[in-house]
Amino acid sequence: ALEIRFDTIRQELSKIARESFQTTLGEWGNVEPAVAACANPNFGDYQINNAMGIWSTIKGKETEFRNPREIAQSITRNFPQTGFVETTSVAGPGFINVKLSSVYIAKRLNELLLHGIDTWAPVLPVKRAIVDFSSPNIAKEMHVGHLRSTIIGDCLANMIEYCKVEVLRRNHVGDWGTQFGMLIEYLFEMFPNWEDIGDQAIGDLQAFYKESKVRFDADEEFKAKAQQAVVKLQSGDAKYRAAWKILCNISRNEFQQVYDRLKVSLEEKGESFYNPYIPDAIQILRDKGILEESDGATVIFVDGHKIPLIAIKRDGGFNYASTDLAALWYRLNVEKVEWIIYVTDVGQHQHFDMLFKAAKRAEWLPKEGYPRTQHVGFGLVLGADGKRFRTRQGTGLVRLVDLLDEAKSRSKTALIERGRDDEWSPEDLDAAAESVGYGAVKYADLKNNRETNYTFSFEQMLDVRGNTAVYLLYAYARIRSIIRKSGKSIDELKENGAIVLTHPDERALGLFLIQFSEVVEDAVTRLLPNTLCEYLYNLSENFTRFYTSCKVNGSPEETSRLLLCEATAIVMKQCFKLLGITPLERL
Ligand code: ARG
Repeated sequence: ALEIRFDTIRQELSKIARESFQTTLGEWGNVEPAVAACANPNFGDYQINNAMGIWSTIKGKETEFRNPREIAQSITRNFPQTGFVETTSVAGPGFINVKLSSVYIAKRLNELLLHGIDTWAPVLPVKRAIVDFSSPNIAKEMHVGHLRSTIIGDCLANMIEYCKVEVLRRNHVGDWGTQFGMLIEYLFEMFPNWEDIGDQAIGDLQAFYKESKVRFDADEEFKAKAQQAVVKLQSGDAKYRAAWKILCNISRNEFQQVYDRLKVSLEEKGESFYNPYIPDAIQILRDKGILEESDGATVIFVDGHKIPLIAIKRDGGFNYASTDLAALWYRLNVEKVEWIIYVTDVGQHQHFDMLFKAAKRAEWLPKEGYPRTQHVGFGLVLGADGKRFRTRQGTGLVRLVDLLDEAKSRSKTALIERGRDDEWSPEDLDAAAESVGYGAVKYADLKNNRETNYTFSFEQMLDVRGNTAVYLLYAYARIRSIIRKSGKSIDELKENGAIVLTHPDERALGLFLIQFSEVVEDAVTRLLPNTLCEYLYNLSENFTRFYTSCKVNGSPEETSRLLLCEATAIVMKQCFKLLGITPLERL
């Protein structure tokens, strides 16, 4: 099938602007149009802000223009006739304000109804990307930081996938390292029949980890055995490998409980996967001449950091950075991805900055452009007391699951209070509780700028009146119910008519809808999910304004207005999908 993709409004306006720049200024008009949506609708819908810049280059030269305002005026006069722009005006020193034609806005919406939201996908300059996210550590606690990484990473991956880029959703699990020697020896000691009882041997891996650490610190003989065990594991000894696998599986199953609830899909390629690639990757760096000896370690110095990136530790062993070097090499050369996004807390900023700079020194990455790596950092999760959020004492992984389960059960209680248990089957009630509960946790995380800390509060995230998933899910379900109540099918409506925008609130909603594509483009290029949350919230406000001032069912404009409701529902649904939230048709 022929794949249709429509330009964004910004792109369409840029085309017109570019043409007019040429006609107006010839060679001087060869600049990239600066097109942006107007913050204040009283001025217009979009602004083109090039006249001042152009003026500063041609000022003093032999031209017909005496100031930037005259340039702007001339540009607007030379706008090609497209039926797209209704009016233009020049404000201040030379801002060009553009008002789009309502017929054009309606046409875009009718295209959406006809061809679907995928035709609105922004175009990105890459074909394949990696989002490295979640990435908890085996036998250690999967904490709220990993939950944030999971939620933010999933949203970014969803947005990039929507842009028709192939995304490798990577779980860079911490499944390698010296702690395994200790764990394995302790397993042998505590469960001589470990091979038979397998995963069942250890109920709580985190507690097991703590016990083995105590043993490790207290007993020299045990410590020596544990260190030997690391060597055996790393050299591929079958028995040690088997024990390691058992330990990994226990954690893996626990991580999966979180992913299943959140419906997040990830592909595990843990640290151990890259281990065989480390020596070669380091040799390549050595051949490039960027490795240095420092304090007995083998390191790479990079700009802006006093301490270097450690490629080989003093004892000859490999570390977190060695693995990330090998993983980066693998991703660039074997998987041939053009964009790699690492989602961790901001605390790892320095590590990634050094890693990326080292890769640039090695010429694995260009100074600018693609392939490109980016670190997506996020702040802490705080509790009501303003301190680092801690789940109840107990076992690590179960705790995150408990947290999610609490969100669900609170949502269920609220739904029952609204009497939904009378109308719905237990399965529907359960599905709704999941959608609302998990959706609330995700939205509360995503709506803030990711770099800031955020306070985890069930009361806030489940508030039906706030800027919450619950509020938005209700708004969506309400639109669906408006359409249902009309008794008409969407196909029927589409056959009978099309969207026509007459009332100002109707037009404002329409304009906001057709801006969806460029909002996603901004959110995905700046890697800021909160941009999309803000849009979704404002969209529902725009809808409310429209619905308050325009009668839908039973009005002469009924067909057009129901179709506008449908267009709103389509865009809202796509927002939910990108945010990882499951919308409900009834709530
Ligand atoms: N396991 C690490 C942690 O829990 C995160 C790994 C992030 N990804 C990477 N390629 N370094 O902090």
